[in-house]
Amino acid sequence: MKTIAIINLKGGVGKTTTAINMAALLVSKHKKRVLLIDNDPQGNASQFFGHYYGCMCGSGNILENTEPYIYQTAAGVDIIDANITLLDADNKLRASTERQDNRMAAFLEKQNKKYDYCIIDNPPAILMCTINALCAADEVIVPIMLDNWAMDGVETITTQIEELKDLNSKLKIAGILLTNYRRSDENEVAESWLRKNCKYRVFSTRIRRSDKVTAATYYKEPLEKYSPRSAAAVTYRKFVNEYLQESGV
Ligand SMILES: Nc1ncnc2c1ncn2[C@@H]1O[C@H](COP(=O)(O)OP(=O)(O)OP(=O)(O)O)[C@@H](O)[C@H]1O
Ligand SMILES: [Mg+2]
Repeated sequence: MKTIAIINLKGGVGKTTTAINMAALLVSKHKKRVLLIDNDPQGNASQFFGHYYGCMCGSGNILENTEPYIYQTAAGVDIIDANITLLDADNKLRASTERQDNRMAAFLEKQNKKYDYCIIDNPPAILMCTINALCAADEVIVPIMLDNWAMDGVETITTQIEELKDLNSKLKIAGILLTNYRRSDENEVAESWLRKNCKYRVFSTRIRRSDKVTAATYYKEPLEKYSPRSAAAVTYRKFVNEYLQESGV
């Protein structure tokens, strides 16, 4: 099983949209067995798949070393849910005197044979749950939206990742993914600057902006089902193909 953390400490850059649609495409187009972990107390991925409840959530269970419930979804993706109670588990773990960084890695080791991919959707913050995800992951994908601060976001998270190398030496940055992309003169300048100056791989596919992305969240359907011909669906398909060509299992 390959574990991919979708992460950027900047909010609203398309992490959850990427996690959901990449997971769904790996199942529907590539016949992979996929576990999606919602590791964000906002619980957006859980809401999307209709598994958002008030009681202790699955990702909280992982931090507490108890068995999380794994839900099956109509999209064929299995999901471990999150909600605000993840913060309680996070605070409790932070206050404990036991080792704090390896709870998710220990849980995922037990799932190794059951899935081909585990995708972890993360919050825009370094919490204990985020550190656990980075210590459990093989790879990181960093979604960014082009603006003046996009590079700051890349630098902040890549610095954190480099600092965690002692705890997880296998962790590598699979690439930077441009999301919510719209063609404009400014964006072309920003993109070529990024491609020239970023020391990490920038995926050649750009996820195009499309109104269908937000609409799909109301219908709780992956883009491939809700609007397969939308620019965002087409480019997510292309991105997953590109990812698999380079790093697939
Ligand atoms: N390609 C796209 N086209 C249009 N809208 C998009 C696209 N990608 C994301 N969005 C919209 O941008 C908003 C933020 O996306 P998303 O929730 O995926 O970001 P996030 O990084 O997970 O945010 P957070 O940091 O709060 O977890 C959402 O309203 C989403 O519908
Ligand atoms: Mg999110």
